[in-house]
Amino acid sequence: MTAIYGHRGAAGTHPENTLLSFEEALNNGVDGIELDVQITKDGELIVMHDPTVDRTTSGSGYVNEMTLAEIKQLSAGSEFSHMIDYDPNTWPSIKVPTLKETLNLIRPHRIELNIEFKPNLALHKGIEQIVLKEVESYGQGLKVSYSSFHLPILMRLKALNKEVETAFLVNQNVPFPRDYLETFNLATFHVSKKPLLGDSFFEAEELLEKIRVWTVNCDEDINKLLQKNVKAIMTDFPKRAIALRRTFKKQV
Ligand code: G3P
Ligand code: MG
Repeated sequence: MTAIYGHRGAAGTHPENTLLSFEEALNNGVDGIELDVQITKDGELIVMHDPTVDRTTSGSGYVNEMTLAEIKQLSAGSEFSHMIDYDPNTWPSIKVPTLKETLNLIRPHRIELNIEFKPNLALHKGIEQIVLKEVESYGQGLKVSYSSFHLPILMRLKALNKEVETAFLVNQNVPFPRDYLETFNLATFHVSKKPLLGDSFFEAEELLEKIRVWTVNCDEDINKLLQKNVKAIMTDFPKRAIALRRTFKKQV
């Protein structure tokens, strides 16, 4: 049965990549969570999608030019006042979480966790080892996979520990996908929804049951991919996706 992953937690209804968003996804009963990491000037791993704090916080600037203490001054909730659940009493005081804080929150739930390395991290020498160490220290019991659009990062992760699960992120149909899996020792692909909704090379090579698909938010697409029995659907609306899966299960 297709797993449901909360993308950046429950980013459709809660401030992305924050503990509130992860708590929401966990309360929804997700099988997994996807998040993105960045690293501060003083070498602390934080959970954030962009290389700058501009879009998702009250501040501005590049993450790698700011200390953790500076980033902790910012609000990670105030930019999301357009959301229905926005609470003016609590959301403005939401902080950007560290990866450690996030692992501590998620760990007891023993779910799957996908940590995405954004391509800008390729500029930070040794980032792979820093993340692996953090997960080793605080992520015990979690089934962790590492993904990136930047294949060299995945290869360096594998070189550090051949047991780690790596997933190549792509947003297009890829000819001969199995060749990539075997050549680069990848566990899977994380593919954007568009190629997967049609006839893809992944389907032709009977790989759908191994593929996680992002970011799938509309009911029709979720239902199509449930039918195709992909390995996982990553969605900003995990509550809705889980309800759709419940209905789908009753029908099959
Ligand atoms: O990991 C799947 C998806 O998150 C990749 O794109 O830009 O949302 O991180 P993005
Ligand atoms: Mg991501």
